[in-house]
Amino acid sequence: MPKQWIKEHQKEHFYRSAKKEGYRARSAFKLIHINDKFKIFRRVYTLLDLGCAPGSWLQVSKEFIDANIQKDKGKIAPKLLGVDIEKISPIEGVNFIQMDINDNSLESKINGFFENEQIDLIISDCSINKTGNKTLDQVSQIRICNRVVEIAIQFLKPDRFLVLKCFEGSELASFIRNLKKKFQMVKKFIPGATRSRSSELYLICKSIIKIKQ
Ligand SMILES: C[S@@+](CC[C@H](N)C(=O)[O-])C[C@H]1O[C@@H](n2cnc3c(N)ncnc32)[C@H](O)[C@@H]1O
Repeated sequence: MPKQWIKEHQKEHFYRSAKKEGYRARSAFKLIHINDKFKIFRRVYTLLDLGCAPGSWLQVSKEFIDANIQKDKGKIAPKLLGVDIEKISPIEGVNFIQMDINDNSLESKINGFFENEQIDLIISDCSINKTGNKTLDQVSQIRICNRVVEIAIQFLKPDRFLVLKCFEGSELASFIRNLKKKFQMVKKFIPGATRSRSSELYLICKSIIKIKQ
């Protein structure tokens, strides 16, 4: 069977499954695949999702965090925050800020919500509206990724994960090289639920490297 055919049918499968499971988007399965491989939700109670609309990553995150809390007999209070330019319909137990992540006032809002505590996991599926010009799109996406990394450096707990979305292209290698100066682990990952013709991929980063003063 041709690979393309198999991938397209997988896509259909993920779309149907997302509807069946009550997720808002099939990208829910991308996060599930990322967790299957990297166990990013281990010991996670607080989470920031940058570029979260319509909210399927928040739905999945809530499920994993609820399971952690059950295991822990509710000793730790969960805190989940999503940020997006677009509005989302509410999700119980999840807070949302409608804002451009480039807005300078975002940091104080994050600090306020997490009460100046560092965060267990930061995820970002944030992506630009593609223009069709691959070079331009990649540069714009990397600009967004740089902002996500800037936020993660300020708010992520040491030894924890940052997940961010990138596109394949000529700028990717140098972006990853820079990222490797900031995180001890940086891995490229393409979840099974990704469209076959898509150039998107995820970078799974762990353990911020603290720069000695
Ligand atoms: C692929 S969608 C995210 C899907 C989400 N992970 C889910 O599972 O429901 C990408 C999102 O990034 C958001 N976005 C793009 N640029 C942004 C920015 N500068 N600030 C905030 N959100 C942004 C878009 O509005 C869009 O909702």
